[in-house]
Amino acid sequence: MKDLILRPERPEQDREMEEIVRDAFWDKFCPGCSEHLVVRNLRQSPAIVPELCLAAEIGGRLAGGIWYAQGAIRSGRTHHPVLTMGPVCVSPEYQCRGVGSTLIEKTLSLAAGKSCAVIIYGDIGYYARFGFRPASDHGITDAEGSFCPAILIYPLAEEIPSGAFDEGSVYHVTPEAVRAFDKTFAPRRKHCHSQQLFFFPPEPPPEDPLLRASWDLRQQAAGVLRDSGVLEAWESLGAKVRSVGSFRNGLMMKHRDIDLHVYTPVLDVSSVLKALTPVIASPRTVSLDFVNGAETDECCLEWHLKLRDDSGELWKIDMIQILAGSKYDGVMEDVAEAVIDAATPEMRKTILALKNACPDDRPVCGVEFYKAVISDGVTTWREFLERRKKDPPGALMHWKPALR
Ligand SMILES: CC(C)(COP(=O)(O)OP(=O)(O)OC[C@H]1O[C@@H](n2cnc3c(N)ncnc32)[C@H](O)[C@@H]1OP(=O)(O)O)[C@@H](O)C(=O)NCCC(=O)NCCS
Repeated sequence: MKDLILRPERPEQDREMEEIVRDAFWDKFCPGCSEHLVVRNLRQSPAIVPELCLAAEIGGRLAGGIWYAQGAIRSGRTHHPVLTMGPVCVSPEYQCRGVGSTLIEKTLSLAAGKSCAVIIYGDIGYYARFGFRPASDHGITDAEGSFCPAILIYPLAEEIPSGAFDEGSVYHVTPEAVRAFDKTFAPRRKHCHSQQLFFFPPEPPPEDPLLRASWDLRQQAAGVLRDSGVLEAWESLGAKVRSVGSFRNGLMMKHRDIDLHVYTPVLDVSSVLKALTPVIASPRTVSLDFVNGAETDECCLEWHLKLRDDSGELWKIDMIQILAGSKYDGVMEDVAEAVIDAATPEMRKTILALKNACPDDRPVCGVEFYKAVISDGVTTWREFLERRKKDPPGALMHWKPALR
């Protein structure tokens, strides 16, 4: 492209670049984004590989950038260094003019001889053109040992070690840190839509025991989901799968339930059954229940899968199939995001403590806990029971905390 210059970042343009990163990623993979903070953290991290980090400039204006950090493939006690690529972004006004490709191609050529591979979390639909392949081809998994289709590799050597990819802790940011950093930018509304990825951004394991128990359960849930085969089944139908509920908002406690909303252009039972056949036939599967709600107000199909994990624990994956673009598209995701946004770390602990205190035989819907703590200031199980008497569960149907 004419006028396009690639050069190292300039410290006096740090903020301008962070604005571009925020603009490029906003609402793309989740409501809002965290990549602008990742870029800020990368610049201050010893893990950064500065000679591979470039800014793109067009006619003297910043147009995008690419960053690299030192990552690793871990196998037992051995750490094989690799290059983690990302974020990479182009300002929305300059997208689709070859800037992203030029940044990627240039830095991949500069990376030759510096490591055995470049690895990225990305979309194979875009990165295949540069020579990236699924890292699973080389026996590379995510940190939990699961094969993840979003981990892509660009080999720089003949021999690629297998093991678990560790992108580096500099990519992990907490929701609180993102929120605090984001407040230093112009306010911007977050939106949920069915194109967003459902996987949550990586964040470090918390120290608080309750938060940690919830974090552990969510990591296990992510593994169960990946191993279940349901994602591949839905993707084979061109469906978009999004998480909702406590799996999405990170407030899982005790219950091994994963709630998904699945968006398809039509509600066709037989094609879903066909796509789900390998899941149904899996020895892990205990049952698959179906509720036909096509003729109801919600106009949805419900698929309730029960399966066992490697240690024999029973999990439920509830998949609500909804027409893409209908008025229900993104509604529950919005609620989960609003809860993430509104709940302070203290409130999150209280919600988890209440969920933990709740007897297994007492059915309480998650939103009851969220409203009680976030809107009504409830802090104990006793207060919760008192509050519950006053607040009929029907009143919760449309509750959602305002996005901050
Ligand atoms: C992805 C991004 C860096 C690409 O930069 P760009 O300058 O817009 O891309 P290019 O002009 O080099 O390439 C454009 C092509 O990529 C395609 N493309 C872009 N994102 C894609 C994706 N996620 N999946 C498939 N194709 C994609 C475009 O459709 C276009 O296709 P075409 O060449 O067939 O017309 C840029 O769009 C961006 O910043 N997006 C938001 C942030 C982001 O997603 N970053 C990547 C995270 S892994």
